Amino acid sequence: MTFNTSTAEGPITFYNLYDLEKMAQHVIPKGAFGYIASGAGDTFTLYENIRAFNHKLIVPETLRGVENPDTSTVFDGDKLTSPIIMPPVAAQKLANVQGEVACAKGVSDYGTIYTTSSYASADLPEISQALNGSPHWFQFYMSKDDGINRNIMDRVKAEGCKAIVLTTDATVGGNRETDARNGYVFPVGMPIVEEYLPQGAGKSMDFIYKSAKQALSPRDVEFIAEYSGLPVYVKGPQCKEDVKLALDAGASGIWVTNHAGRQLDGGPATFDSLQEVAEAVDKRVPIVFDSGVRRGQHVFKALASGADLVAVGRPVIYGLALGGSVGVRQVFDKLTDELKMVMQLAGKQTIEDVKNTTLRHNPYPSPLPSEAAPLKLY
Ligand code: FNR
Ligand code: LAC
Repeated sequence: MTFNTSTAEGPITFYNLYDLEKMAQHVIPKGAFGYIASGAGDTFTLYENIRAFNHKLIVPETLRGVENPDTSTVFDGDKLTSPIIMPPVAAQKLANVQGEVACAKGVSDYGTIYTTSSYASADLPEISQALNGSPHWFQFYMSKDDGINRNIMDRVKAEGCKAIVLTTDATVGGNRETDARNGYVFPVGMPIVEEYLPQGAGKSMDFIYKSAKQALSPRDVEFIAEYSGLPVYVKGPQCKEDVKLALDAGASGIWVTNHAGRQLDGGPATFDSLQEVAEAVDKRVPIVFDSGVRRGQHVFKALASGADLVAVGRPVIYGLALGGSVGVRQVFDKLTDELKMVMQLAGKQTIEDVKNTTLRHNPYPSPLPSEAAPLKLY
């Protein structure tokens, strides 16, 4: 099955992260683009993720003597250019023939954490090589067979990954109607999970999800932590009860997300869940936030609401499609430039200052920004 997609490698001209989706639609084949861009069901949660950022407001602060704000942060002993990181995104060869290798290079050139998906279209060693020593996390879709899980974890450790991210919110696929309408099946393979998913190519997302372990429980957190000896971040909690289950099972971090609106449609925006999760975590472990981050002000608001790291997914994949590793780096640079501007105008010199900022509640419902208007996907 040959799959022709972008071979781009070089600078992109764009003005914000919303531009990238409109531009990438012209370079990524239709079915693959629909898989990347779409959400579940009515896509309420997909767009609520963006709309909800205006539920809280940043009050500008002046006369604070701020100049050239510093976006850098140190996380787990690694100095990052900013708290903005790369989440796990499957099958990146859908966007560019270079796939995860180019994405990892761009993320490494920028200077932050890269998270490899179990369903990556490249294997761990080539991704590690492209990362060139930058922090590498691995996101785990477990096999139903623990022997295979141990083998995968052995490979993850051999590649020097610093953490394992256990995704708990995708034990079955969300209602991906765009994929159904497009008759979408993966045109690329997934070498990391070949043992339990031979030839990922030609398979639907629903088939793939059902090939993985579905009955996840806190015991799986304990098993991964005990066997791998690595920190385990649980990716999926959106309520205080799930935070308790994860922390009681020994999780080293909480990744609050709604999987970019691709799973349970009709749920809250991640930004609206962050406050409850942060209160439940009570600074005991780090919090990663994602879903719908498209502006520097989104990053600022997430940090001010309890997040330690903020992940951005689709826009980076669009940057990969449009510019390869250079495009990927540009996306992180653009978001960082916007964050610096917001920090300057809000009177915040450092990321710690941002995290100590009190946002103002917005009592009025806010519309979806016109820049984020949905595209036609089928
Ligand atoms: C994802 N996401 C995801 N999450 C995960 O745990 N494992 C995975 O393999 C994938 N794959 C994946 C593919 C695509 C095309 C998308 C868009 C998303 C979810 C991802 O880690 C992250 O939670 C969201 O992408 C963040 O939302 P935005 O920034 O894409 O809106
Ligand atoms: C998705 C899976 C791979 O969101 O996590 O498509």
